Amino acid sequence: MVLRIAPAKPQDLDALMALEEAAFPGDRMSRRALSRNIASPSLGFLVAREAGQLKGHALIAFRKGSALARLYSLAVQPEAMGRGLGGKLLGAAERFARNRGADRLRLEVRADNQAAIRLYTRSGYVRLAQIDDYYEDGKAALRYEKPLP
Ligand SMILES: CC(C)(COP(=O)(O)OP(=O)(O)OC[C@H]1O[C@@H](n2cnc3c(N)ncnc32)[C@H](O)[C@@H]1OP(=O)(O)O)[C@@H](O)C(=O)NCCC(=O)NCCS
Repeated sequence: MVLRIAPAKPQDLDALMALEEAAFPGDRMSRRALSRNIASPSLGFLVAREAGQLKGHALIAFRKGSALARLYSLAVQPEAMGRGLGGKLLGAAERFARNRGADRLRLEVRADNQAAIRLYTRSGYVRLAQIDDYYEDGKAALRYEKPLP
């Protein structure tokens, strides 16, 4: 199936809410946060669609004067997982960040999130640190970074 990756629009809000519910057990973005993030000039909010259906998102944050971009969120609909969509969204996020002048992309991932850690490691991310007590439930995060040549 053809996958199209493009910036999120306000009309995507319902589908993005459904994706938050389906992909994350906690630490979800609220409808208000999603809406704000779609409109924010300091964020890149990408969505992946197959046959018009929203299958995933990637959210990239930029700070003025900094060449470090941050991957705030990456998610794929559970029924679409395991087909490489996450990798394609990650690649699109990296290209987006590079086009905005970033020279590296950093992210935090739950230390127990095997699927995501596999994806990041396979995609060339290097582990920098562990941050204890990072998530709502007290779980630790691992920080990863990748240079964007
Ligand atoms: C992490 C995530 C974006 C990966 O997306 P994806 O489209 O499934 O990515 P891929 O198909 O490239 O698979 C990545 C790895 O996930 C694992 N995986 C994929 N589908 C899986 C499934 N149904 N069950 C368990 N593991 C699975 C595989 O180990 C795979 O690595 P491999 O191909 O080297 O074996 C997706 O699992 C997701 O949205 N998870 C919930 C939200 C989340 O945790 N986001 C990351 C926050 S930092």
